[in-house]
Amino acid sequence: METVKVALGERSYDIFIDDHLLDQAGEYLCPLARDGRLLVVSDETVWHALGARLQAGLGGIEATPILVAPGEASKSWKGLESVVDALLGNGVERSDHVIAFGGGVVGDLVGFAAAIVNRGCSSVQIPTTLLAQVDSSVGGKTAINVAAGKNLAGAFHQPSLVLIDPSLLDSLDGRQVRAGYAEVVKYALLGDAPLFDWLEREGGNVVSGDPEARNHAIAAAVRGKARTVEKDERETSGRRALLNLGHTFGHALEAETGLSDRLLHGEAVALGCVLAFDYSVARGLCSAGAAERVRAHLHSVGLPTELAELGLRGRGRQLAEHMRHDKKRLSGRTVFVLVRGIGEAFVDRSVELGEIAEFLDRAP
Ligand SMILES: NC(=O)c1ccc[n+]([C@@H]2O[C@H](COP(=O)([O-])OP(=O)(O)OC[C@H]3O[C@@H](n4cnc5c(N)ncnc54)[C@H](O)[C@@H]3O)[C@@H](O)[C@H]2O)c1
Ligand SMILES: [Zn+2]
Repeated sequence: METVKVALGERSYDIFIDDHLLDQAGEYLCPLARDGRLLVVSDETVWHALGARLQAGLGGIEATPILVAPGEASKSWKGLESVVDALLGNGVERSDHVIAFGGGVVGDLVGFAAAIVNRGCSSVQIPTTLLAQVDSSVGGKTAINVAAGKNLAGAFHQPSLVLIDPSLLDSLDGRQVRAGYAEVVKYALLGDAPLFDWLEREGGNVVSGDPEARNHAIAAAVRGKARTVEKDERETSGRRALLNLGHTFGHALEAETGLSDRLLHGEAVALGCVLAFDYSVARGLCSAGAAERVRAHLHSVGLPTELAELGLRGRGRQLAEHMRHDKKRLSGRTVFVLVRGIGEAFVDRSVELGEIAEFLDRAP
């Protein structure tokens, strides 16, 4: 069992990581249940695959399921309304701990609902995708998508507990696993060079579901995120902004492919990391050898590393135009995370989008 503490004063919480934790969920959740009952929000796919296992793991605690449709579309005003109404309809109280049982969609939606229902109750994250286990379940960012863009309405609302059971990933589609793995690589690239060395050796085993390798990678990524969030809970000092390595490029790729299944978020982040390294090389900041290692590793696990793979070659101007609307802009400038090498990322606000467009037009 790995335990990672997120130290945020009165908002501190524990993250427990272990295979088959779900089967003992009752031990952890019993103190958080009211009258032996918990409200559990999940999506239909996750509930169908894992709901019975959660219920068995809860022992004597009764779970009241509240289900949303699987997929990004549930992270909407409508989805939020239905979850908030269902929580209130089931008598949720401010002292309650609502369980978010699913991927990042359920985690973000339930976290936001918990932030606002009765002016705020607590939430527990039980993430079921690799992306949610290494990224979205930790750190307290919650949001829904609105007409103006993804994640533009939300709140910072830390969970009271995170239970990560890597064995839940056994039923997850391989493409989703690889997409989540891209975020693990991102943590290594932004500040943990020894982790990248390890991933170069063991990454294939992480993706194929070897329990030891998978648990090691998840714990390393979670520790990386927890330490970052502790230093900069609300992304004010720039430290948390490093987590956006590969994301300014990635969000533009997602926008250009129409936020569709053609490109999953993690796939966009993988190619985005390659582009951030290549651009850093072009600026004379980083060695070409480091960028080549990044490309080779992501390619070896089956993640996209070239614009051509997505049919996006020569679309520099369009991609740069999407960046002009990136929500991470500060005082009218697009913020880029660049690198001096593997594990050495920094925030740069001096990048000109015209230069980015030319760079992307030349990129393979
Ligand atoms: N809050 C944050 O800090 C943060 C960080 C990164 C991403 N996100 C958000 O996370 C969301 C993406 O999350 P995601 O990639 O987990 O997608 P997701 O929640 O849509 O899950 C992907 C698919 O896998 C299915 N699924 C989930 N767990 C399963 C399991 N164990 N077995 C079988 N099927 C399973 C789901 O039903 C869904 O169809 C995006 O909305 C993104 O904005 C938030
Ligand atoms: Zn991401």
